[in-house]
Amino acid sequence: MPTAPDPTTAPESVPLHRDGLTPPLIAATALPEHVALVMDGNGRWANSRGLARTEGHRIGEATMMDVIAGGVELGIKEMSVYAFSTENWRRSPAEVRFLMGFARTALRAQTDDLNDWGVQVRWVGREPKLWKSVLKEVRRAERITAGNSTMVLNMCLNYGGRAEIADAARAIGQEIAAGRLKPASITEKTIQRYLYSPAMRDVDLFIRTSGEQRTSNFLMWSSAYAELYFTDLPWPEFNRAELWRACVAYASRNRRFGGAIDAVAGKAEDGQ
Ligand code: IPE
Ligand code: IPE
Ligand code: MG
Repeated sequence: MPTAPDPTTAPESVPLHRDGLTPPLIAATALPEHVALVMDGNGRWANSRGLARTEGHRIGEATMMDVIAGGVELGIKEMSVYAFSTENWRRSPAEVRFLMGFARTALRAQTDDLNDWGVQVRWVGREPKLWKSVLKEVRRAERITAGNSTMVLNMCLNYGGRAEIADAARAIGQEIAAGRLKPASITEKTIQRYLYSPAMRDVDLFIRTSGEQRTSNFLMWSSAYAELYFTDLPWPEFNRAELWRACVAYASRNRRFGGAIDAVAGKAEDGQ
């Protein structure tokens, strides 16, 4: 039975949709717990309007906040946003500088609202190369929001899926060399423990905007069984209603995780 979000537990301070749209009714069991977002298409959106790429990033900040608010409204427990990849260092020095400075100021500007909404911010990424001032700002956001439990927001900054797995492998190797871990005892759970955020849930719904149909090294381990959802909208045109649309699509997917049910059309199952 679909249930409406419980207004007694929904944080009061999440700004509602500007046209008064309310979240769709999705049964709690059909709701993705963890939604990953590849916020792509900012530069092309801006360029197609005669603007510099950086203007697209600026608009993208408001989109991100709207989508997070929509996630809180719907009852999503965890969201991961891809803000800067380990491959994004390949961009022009000017764009890299802009993106680093922008990450810092956006975090500073939005932390209070995120905190009011009950969002717990966690940085997910690797330290080398990340600007110290950005790291400081994301650590500050983590400290301020540490006690929140409405939603976890993984801020993926200087994140790469292969880097994450390589870093985990190195840390595990060090444990083995120090005699604290036996190779034979390594399982998938061991790998999970050495990821950037061991507490991260498996991704249920992986969304990418801008029409590109690739994962670009995002959350490779955690998205192993994610449902993929691609939309042609560039990130600045995405919004919470589009997030809800993706969640409705997700709710009708049949996730099998490798299993199978023998259900011949027209015959009842024999229960074996
Ligand atoms: C995504 O938008 C934001 C970041 C990578 C930081 P892009 O900057 O990749 O925009 P497009 O894909 O070139 O349009
Ligand atoms: C992925 O987008 C990274 C982020 C959104 C931060 P990119 O624009 O960097 O990915 P590619 O180059 O299209 O694979
Ligand atoms: Mg892109």
